[in-house]
Amino acid sequence: MPDPQLVLAARVQAALSAAFGPSYADADPVIRPSQFADLQANVALPLAKKLGRKPRDVADEIVKNLDTADVVANVEVSGPGFINLTLSDGWIAAEAQRALEDERLGVPAAEEPQKTVVEYSSPNVAKEMHVGHLRTTIVGDAIARILAFLGHDVVRDNHVGDWGTPFGMLIEHLLDLGEDAAARDDSSVSDLTAFYQAAREKFDGDEEFADRSRRRVVALQAGDAETLRLWNVLVDVSKRYFNAVYGRLGVTLTDDDIKGESFYNDLLAPTVQELEDKGIAVISDGALCAFPPGFTGREGEPLPVIIRKSDGGYNYSTTDLATIRYRVDTEHVDRMIYVVGAPQALHFQMVFAVARMAGWLNDEVEAEHAQIGNVLGTDGKILRTRAGGTVKLAQLLDEAVERAGAVFDEIQHDEPFDDATRAAIVRDVGIGAVKYADLSVARDSEYVFDFDRMISFHGKTGPYLQYAAARIRSIFRKGGVAVEDATGPITLGDPAERALALELLGFGAVLKQAGDTAEPHRLASYIYAVADAYTTFYENCPVLKAPDEPTKASRLALCAATLRTLETGLHLLGVPTPERM
Ligand code: ARG
Repeated sequence: MPDPQLVLAARVQAALSAAFGPSYADADPVIRPSQFADLQANVALPLAKKLGRKPRDVADEIVKNLDTADVVANVEVSGPGFINLTLSDGWIAAEAQRALEDERLGVPAAEEPQKTVVEYSSPNVAKEMHVGHLRTTIVGDAIARILAFLGHDVVRDNHVGDWGTPFGMLIEHLLDLGEDAAARDDSSVSDLTAFYQAAREKFDGDEEFADRSRRRVVALQAGDAETLRLWNVLVDVSKRYFNAVYGRLGVTLTDDDIKGESFYNDLLAPTVQELEDKGIAVISDGALCAFPPGFTGREGEPLPVIIRKSDGGYNYSTTDLATIRYRVDTEHVDRMIYVVGAPQALHFQMVFAVARMAGWLNDEVEAEHAQIGNVLGTDGKILRTRAGGTVKLAQLLDEAVERAGAVFDEIQHDEPFDDATRAAIVRDVGIGAVKYADLSVARDSEYVFDFDRMISFHGKTGPYLQYAAARIRSIFRKGGVAVEDATGPITLGDPAERALALELLGFGAVLKQAGDTAEPHRLASYIYAVADAYTTFYENCPVLKAPDEPTKASRLALCAATLRTLETGLHLLGVPTPERM
């Protein structure tokens, strides 16, 4: 579906070219939303400066050459030289009709599909996931869904932290407890925080245990079969836990998407070798380092990326370099999106810079850190339990669902629900509230986790949007009409109908933008704007009691297009949409 802004941009460019010569065909027409019309083109102002003419004269000349009769009902030059453009109702209605008839709601597929790795979630084995992981998981999943819908070849990648020195003590602790404890899902193992802490305490207090643990690390790194088997037992316990969380959240990650740090273990040595061969990695203070240009410390000294420590061990950065090299050489990806916490920004900047020095990243292959801001409690500090501990994800979700239940029981329902149905809806509402709250703020800004705000049926919340969609479904049920049968034709009389139809036409452009920038909050805001336009429409335009049949058919069609836009949009955010509420 052509976004009005894009359509008019092309027309104004054609006018520019006709009026001032073909070199102006690519000029930015500076199309903006307008207070006085639907859109305005402001290009006359910068152009007048360049041409040394009066902006109003330039605007008049553009208008004289503007061919928009099929799209625009009214063109007016105002102020110093703004060109105000009012779209014609007929064009809006025809485009909305086209969207309605299209399976993809008129959203075009990407012209140049890119093979795109979306790396997200990436929790650590044998550790509990925290709210930070919750947010990277939710945001990353939305990015993956959006890009896939746009026709890109999306590779979901869960870069779990499943390797490194802690595994020595974790394996030894597992042996002390008895392997069958893991098989039984005994809480001494499955409570990951307790398991990790117990291992840590023994390591710090028991010399014999610490010795065993160190030997175990050596055996793990040497690829000792029995040690690897035990390591796998631990990885499996964690995977079960991750999958339980993903399942509850409706996140699309599966075991096949896991490529943890261990996956790159065998690639570390050749990666380092290549960096040495290219003269990028050099010995400094006994460690092998790369010094990407432009990164300096407080005294102006060059900052290193440590690639091999003086004891011969590799680093977190080494794994990330091997990962980039693998994605480029073996997976042949075009784009890599790292959905990871903002505190790791410098790490990624430096790793990407080294990868550019090595030629793995270049103009053809992009890597970007889609930064995730910290999640704060209502006190403005990093989210903690009342007792001061880290908040467990499972408890957080339990509480969301419980609170959703209380709020749900207060709103108006079409019908009484039996317990099982109510429970299923409330689950969707609680999870949807948490997810939408995470997605509705720009991903790189900090955000306050506030149950009261997110689980409300008013305002920019998941429940409000879910309810809006369910309300539309209920109109169809009451009217005895199937959503697919509401085929229009769409005609626009009331201003609220026009505003809603116009809003619906923006879906494709918003999705493209959200995908290009890896910013799902753009979609989250758009869905809210659609629901808002719908609310105004619904308050002003009776649907089932419309004055005549054609108006009723048109309004039902607008309802259907809105419903599908809301449901598709929420689905791409990973927010469930109960049919009844
Ligand atoms: N496991 C890491 C953590 O929990 C995140 C991994 C991020 N991805 C990466 N390629 N370094 O903090």
